[in-house]
Amino acid sequence: MKRNGQATATKSPKFGEILKRMGKFISIVLTVLAVQLLSSVQSLGQFTNPLFIPDTLLGPVFNMSLDEQEKQFFPGQITHTKGFNNQTFLGPTLVMRRGWEVQVSLNNNLTDTTTLHWHGIHLSAHADGGPHSPVLPGAQWNPHFTCLDKAGTYWYHPHFHGKTGKHTLQGAAGMIIIRDGEEAQLALPRRYGVDDFPVIVQCQEFDETSQIKYKGAQDSILLVNGTLNPFLNVPAQVVRLRLLNSSNARNFNFGLPSNQTFYLIGTDGGLLGESLPVTRVKLAPGERAEVLVNFQGLAGQNIRLKSYASEIAQGTHGGPTLIGPAGSPNQYSPLNGVDFEVLEFRVGAQTANPVLVIPTTLVTQTRLEENLATNQRNIVFTAATQGSISGPYYMNDSTFNLERIDFHIPVNSIEIWNIQNQTVVAHPFHIHGFQFYILDRYGAAVGPEEMGRKDMILLSPNEQARIIVRFSDFADSLMPYMHHCHILTHEDEGMMGQFVVVPTPTAKATFVTGKIDVFPNPARDYLNISGPPFFRNSPIFILNSQGRKVKEISIAEDSSRLFVGDLKSGLYFLKAEENTFFRFIKE
Ligand code: C2O
Ligand code: CU
Ligand code: CU
Repeated sequence: MKRNGQATATKSPKFGEILKRMGKFISIVLTVLAVQLLSSVQSLGQFTNPLFIPDTLLGPVFNMSLDEQEKQFFPGQITHTKGFNNQTFLGPTLVMRRGWEVQVSLNNNLTDTTTLHWHGIHLSAHADGGPHSPVLPGAQWNPHFTCLDKAGTYWYHPHFHGKTGKHTLQGAAGMIIIRDGEEAQLALPRRYGVDDFPVIVQCQEFDETSQIKYKGAQDSILLVNGTLNPFLNVPAQVVRLRLLNSSNARNFNFGLPSNQTFYLIGTDGGLLGESLPVTRVKLAPGERAEVLVNFQGLAGQNIRLKSYASEIAQGTHGGPTLIGPAGSPNQYSPLNGVDFEVLEFRVGAQTANPVLVIPTTLVTQTRLEENLATNQRNIVFTAATQGSISGPYYMNDSTFNLERIDFHIPVNSIEIWNIQNQTVVAHPFHIHGFQFYILDRYGAAVGPEEMGRKDMILLSPNEQARIIVRFSDFADSLMPYMHHCHILTHEDEGMMGQFVVVPTPTAKATFVTGKIDVFPNPARDYLNISGPPFFRNSPIFILNSQGRKVKEISIAEDSSRLFVGDLKSGLYFLKAEENTFFRFIKE
């Protein structure tokens, strides 16, 4: 009794204290309300902020820095963000030309280790910027590559394992536009910021202190190029939009009011064969689409780009909320399964030299035919717990391991990957370094919207699809490329694997070290071989770095030297027996 009384006397908060606590509580409630209000304002249609258009950075030399930044998404609230080249959120749009020798310097000014990955770009695994290429805080990274891809819309984002989602959602991402001669001949809008616009959609969740929350499932705050409630002034003519979904998990189903027709002209890896009249364009996380909208005759009108998410199936993030068994995390977001507005177009006057006609024929597609395939592979998505709606998810029953190479793929082989989703949620699957073509889904050929070059494929729950891909070059037995689910949470939780492209026509190469010695290395005219003479009297092959045979030699019983003076300088492989290789450099 006395104890209680004492406790009451000493622990009972003073009135002022109560007010203070209430004040704190009220301010939290107000912040939450403000955030909710902003999201509902968005659906009420107050598009009051001009869409931010990132500057372009023209190559072939790209000097980039990644910095910790601050941005006010909500008035008076500081959000900690990341941005490239002094942008407070996202990075400049990098413009490259096919054929350029691209040189990058990236200064990591973050307090965190990161990497920089070129999503969709065909380059060596060393330049790819995957989890094996960490850039420490304060360090610089200098990849270089030849721009080999077709004109199209690509993007860049960090890929440090476990931090990809956090860094990307905090703003460390940007668009890449590749131009080439083939695209230049088409009468397409291509004046950046005039009739050709980047549209980077990112759905976010903010916490009570207005910080970007990475693993939130209530991603209801929609940002376009980092702008909340955006409008864009467009001219009354044909306009090109480069759509990129850099959200964690949300799928979009873009369309215009009254089912107005627009035109799909490009997907992940470049332009389609023909422009395709559409009323909807679906975009999974990581995917890109280039579309043309004809605003001719609409001057003075405001038209809103929408996501018709009511048409997205349950199980695909963005569709109606999947409710898991009791105790599983709540996946609810007010944007799930409802149609919402994304961006308001305010149609103004025509520019000089407007594009007024939608071109019909675009570029030549050289799809890979199924009968060219030299190998097949199966990839199965499963959940750690069967039926789980929240993961973690696996590929081929294993979680990501930086030390384990999942596939050794012979260079220049054409493979069919048979991908099967055995989970109850949809996963957007991505391969690094090489564009592919989708062969079929559930055994049926895909429609024209999926006939172009792709580096992403969304697999619905229980769907099975096949893709075909040529691992044309960049053989390197050590440095892997990634393949993974592009739901950033899933990827960071291990729904990722890695493959190496091996410099040999056979599936798995063994590199001999110690047992045999090849010297001098680098070699100028002759290469000496020491070690057990198992290779005597059988032909020895010299393969170039692409795995192609350039020379076949027989070494006599009494000799241990090979003439290599006629080879061009570079990296070569000496193949002594089946599956036994060693590498040497010709000076
Ligand atoms: Cu956007 Cu591993 O990729
Ligand atoms: Cu990628
Ligand atoms: Cu996934």
